[in-house]
Amino acid sequence: MKPLEGQKALVTGGNSGIGAGLATAFAKAGAAVGINFHRHAAEAQALADSIRSDGGEALLLQGDVSNEADVQCMFKTFTDKFGRIDILAANAGLQKDAAITSMTLEEWRTVIDTNLTGAFLCAREAIRSFLAQGPSPVSPATGKILFMSSVHQRIPWGGHVNYATAKGGMKLLMETLAQEVGAKKIRINGIAPGAIKTPINEEVWSDPEKMNALLKLIPYGRIGEPEDVARAAVWLASDDADYVHGTTLFIDGGMSLYPGFGDNG
Ligand code: NAI
Ligand code: BGC
Repeated sequence: MKPLEGQKALVTGGNSGIGAGLATAFAKAGAAVGINFHRHAAEAQALADSIRSDGGEALLLQGDVSNEADVQCMFKTFTDKFGRIDILAANAGLQKDAAITSMTLEEWRTVIDTNLTGAFLCAREAIRSFLAQGPSPVSPATGKILFMSSVHQRIPWGGHVNYATAKGGMKLLMETLAQEVGAKKIRINGIAPGAIKTPINEEVWSDPEKMNALLKLIPYGRIGEPEDVARAAVWLASDDADYVHGTTLFIDGGMSLYPGFGDNG
C-alpha cells in the first residue's frame, strides 16, 4: 500500500521548484493532487501531464494565494472534484529582496501577503473543509497541513527582512493552529528547508562565486534538491508521522547549526 493511497492533496505554488517536487512525490505516493499555480500555466500543464502519464491524478488550479476570492474558489473546485481534502501543502512563496533603507512598501507587502497571509488564507479554507467533511476513511487524521517555512524562520537574514519576517510569522501561525485545532484530529506541521536548488535562488547557484560562499553555510557540503524536501514531506503527511504535530522539520544539510562556529568563536 502506498503511503498516501486514496488521499487528496493540494499543493500551492505547485508548478515550480519544491512545490513541483511535492506534487510529483505525493502523486507517486498514491495521492490525487491539485496543483495550484499563479503564473506559468504551461509549466503547470507539463507537470500535470507528467503525473497523469505516470498513472496519477492531477487537477490544475490557477489562483493567487494572497487573494481571498481566488483561494476560496480554488478550494471549492478542488473539493467539488475530489469530494474532500486530506492534505494541504501551503508552499507558495517568493522573495523581493532589498536593504531596509531601500525596501519599498510594495516589496514588504507583496512578500508578507503571499508568504504569510497566503498561508493563512489557504490554511483557513483547509481547516473549514476538514471540519465540514469529518473523519477520513483512510487516515487517523481528519486532515493534515504542511507549511513550507524556511531556515529563515530561525536564522535572521539581512537584506531580506520581509521574507524572514514572513517565515518567522509562519512558525507561530503553524504552532498556534496546531494548538487550536489538534483536538479535531487536524495534524499541522512546518518544513524548514535550507538552500534548495530552485528558481527562487538561481541568482546564487548559477554564479560559481556565490555558490562557493553558500556552500560554506552548509555543513553537509551540498545544495539541496526539491526531492530532498519532497521525500520528507511525503513522510510528514503520511500516517507514519501520525504523532508528529506542531513541529518544524529542518531539511537544511545543517545550515541552522551556526556553521560559522565550526572552527571559530
Ligand atoms: P519557486 O520560485 O520555484 O516556487 C515558488 C512557487 O510559488 C512558484 O510556483 C510561484 O509561482 C508560486 N507563487 C508565488 N507567488 C504566488 C501567489 N501569489 N499565488 C500562488 N503561487 C505563488 O521557489 P521554491 O524554492 O520552490 O519555493 C517554494 C517555497 O519554499 C517558498 O515558500 C519558499 O519560500 C520556500 N523555501 C525555499 C527554499 C529554497 O532554498 N529554494 C528554502 C526554504 C524555503
Ligand atoms: C530562500 C533561499 C535561500 C535559503 C537558504 C530560503 O528560504 O528562499 O533563497 O537559499 O532560504 O538561505
